[in-house]
Amino acid sequence: MDSNIKTLNEKLAQAHLGGGQQRIDKQHANKKLTARERILYLLDTGSFEEIGALVTHRTKDFGMDKQQYYGDGVVTGYGTISGRLVYVFAQDFTVFGGSLSETHAEKICKVMDLAVKVGSPIIGLNDSGGARIQEGVRSLGGYADIFYRNVQASGVIPQLSAIMGPCAGGAVYSPAMTDFTIMVQDTSYMFVTGPNVVKTVTNETVTSEELGGASTHATKSGVAHITATNDVECLEDIKKLLSYLPQNNQEKAKDYPFELTDEIRQELAEIIPDNANKPYDMHAVIAGIIDTNSFYEIHKDHAENIIVGFARLGGKSIGIVANQPMFLAGVLDVNSSKKAARFVRFCDAFNIPLLVLEDVPGFLPGTDQEWNGIIVHGAKLLYAFSEATVPRITVITRKAYGGAYDVMNSKHIGADINYAWPSAEIAVMGAKGAAEIIFKKDINAAADPEATWKEKEAEYAKLFANPYSAAERGFVDEVILPETTRHKLIKAFAMLEDKTVNKPKRKHGNIPL
Ligand code: COA
Repeated sequence: MDSNIKTLNEKLAQAHLGGGQQRIDKQHANKKLTARERILYLLDTGSFEEIGALVTHRTKDFGMDKQQYYGDGVVTGYGTISGRLVYVFAQDFTVFGGSLSETHAEKICKVMDLAVKVGSPIIGLNDSGGARIQEGVRSLGGYADIFYRNVQASGVIPQLSAIMGPCAGGAVYSPAMTDFTIMVQDTSYMFVTGPNVVKTVTNETVTSEELGGASTHATKSGVAHITATNDVECLEDIKKLLSYLPQNNQEKAKDYPFELTDEIRQELAEIIPDNANKPYDMHAVIAGIIDTNSFYEIHKDHAENIIVGFARLGGKSIGIVANQPMFLAGVLDVNSSKKAARFVRFCDAFNIPLLVLEDVPGFLPGTDQEWNGIIVHGAKLLYAFSEATVPRITVITRKAYGGAYDVMNSKHIGADINYAWPSAEIAVMGAKGAAEIIFKKDINAAADPEATWKEKEAEYAKLFANPYSAAERGFVDEVILPETTRHKLIKAFAMLEDKTVNKPKRKHGNIPL
């Protein structure tokens, strides 16, 4: 019996050592934690239960039968985060560079299947040199098995990906199909083809960092939703993000303790500048409305003309979509439409109510936008709001112009409650442009065209640069004082808590992709 236990302990000790102390030291020297250290940091102390610690690969080619490591380059299992069950896999770069073999993929698929069956989030910590080169197509098949499961699990359980090392080639498509991707600065990169292939094919010279580092994907491509400065911060981000999400699409996110003490927030009355063309920071409006310090921004550095993120209002999770007048005057363009549409769809899939804060002068004009398909991309956001069945509330803080008024969760596309501040201007366009078009003949014929233009502008502004014609038609439910916004929203979301929408049977809609 003793020798049996000894054998087991020896095997487990080997499994825990991954690719050996030397490679662990190299991992640390590269400012990276090991797969096991990451899991232990992520999960509640003592909660991790490993599955498949003694799995080994089955390859004999290239002398691989003589190179066996228990676990085969990925640590998989389950545990809890703040007491909530999660499934996790962490690729172990110390074993064949964390490369994905057939058995490595089987281990990941096993925990993914369990996560879906039980209805709990799955978290992937990626750190891998890609397909296990010695295994050829078996490894590619393993990727596809994972991709297929990512899609089946999409909208059923939250799927979070952390990129904590290399992630190249086919490996990128699993994170891309999960709900959120968090990248670690300086130690992680993602690309379909690396700098060498890029040089050969396009003759461009580019570093890994420039091509697919965390800041590239956080700003330019939007592939990364969140960036962290190191491994520990990345794991903290996962915990924080998870705190806003439910376990699965049948549940709601957990409520946080909350007391109604500061519903009237006077600071909200001071934010909108007197001059309608002056920018202000929509973050101040968000902070003024939500539970103190509860905003967790997603895609912070990408398409900054729109802000998206999670917050708590009266202790409950909400998703916020807000135009940002500080960047491009808050216009909708290709990137901001895509960013917001994806966020809206995530919230809707996971029963997270939506709050829209609107100050939008319209869509960004220009050949760049038109040729890049603003028509189709803007339609994504329109579609996403229109199909969302979660409670949806809009507050128009200032401009709501043109088609963007319709798109930004207007009453017409199914928003439940729409408020406007007295500073709201709900119109087809700004008064200056409107006057120029509809009074062109009068302006041109006038003795003093400039003065006439100004006069006509004032006339148009009086009629439309306010919330009242929309309120008269019921397109706005109530014009509210800014300082009462938090109070109104807490009550309105509580009123909508049990909202249900029955949709006609269909396979799926056809969102303009
Ligand atoms: N398949 C099998 N083994 C791999 C591997 C892969 N795809 N990627 C890395 N490894 C192994 C290396 O052989 C090395 O083994 P060793 O510890 O026994 O020496 C170990 O993983 C670490 O790799 P190394 O190249 O020393 O690390 P690095 O930090 O210098 O570079 C990469 C990391 C990912 C840039 C580099 O390993 C690489 O380019 N890998 C291949 C990427 C690829 O083309 N993948 C297939 C297409 S998806």
